[in-house]
Amino acid sequence: MHDTPEPQDGHNSIPKGWIFFFIVGIICMIGYIASYSPAFSNWSVYKEFDKEMASAKKTESAVAVKDYSGNHEAIEDGKEIFANTCAPCHNGDAKGLIGPNLTAPTLKYGSTKAILFETIAKGRPNGMPSFLPQIGADKISKVIAFLETLRNK
Ligand code: HEC
Repeated sequence: MHDTPEPQDGHNSIPKGWIFFFIVGIICMIGYIASYSPAFSNWSVYKEFDKEMASAKKTESAVAVKDYSGNHEAIEDGKEIFANTCAPCHNGDAKGLIGPNLTAPTLKYGSTKAILFETIAKGRPNGMPSFLPQIGADKISKVIAFLETLRNK
């Protein structure tokens, strides 16, 4: 009880523990801000962006066409994949059914490996489904090698 008029200041001092955490908090804040400030640290939004683009590119090249031309085993696999996956629309001999003839001398969208990959992986607007999610880049590359054997006769 403090019924005697004595100075109360001593009772109002901030607890040492509180000051300690307050100062630690400020130091952490300064450190955090500095670590994300290009003027003080190596961090930069442009570097982060470049890093992300580089890793995205890596994933992208993992889904690019592989060159299986002339690889007999891959072509046999491609033939089987074509029979199971593509023949219902393009016919077993690839000469066309619902989908166009894939052995025609010129194809509407083009017939380079890269374009064929684009067509098969992503699909085309008039009814060609995208097959990348279903069969993946490797099987698409094998189908392309098989198609080339039909086209280059
Ligand atoms: C559901 C039916 C269907 C299936 C299954 C299908 N296609 Fe197609 N495909 C089409 C149609 C329809 C087109 C025409 C698209 C257009 O003109 O926009 C087409 C177009 C194409 C083209 C482009 C031809 C050109 O003239 O440029 C290629 C290449 C092709 N398909 C390959 C394949 C392969 C390889 C498979 C199997 C992995 C396959 N398709 C499975 C229906 C199908």
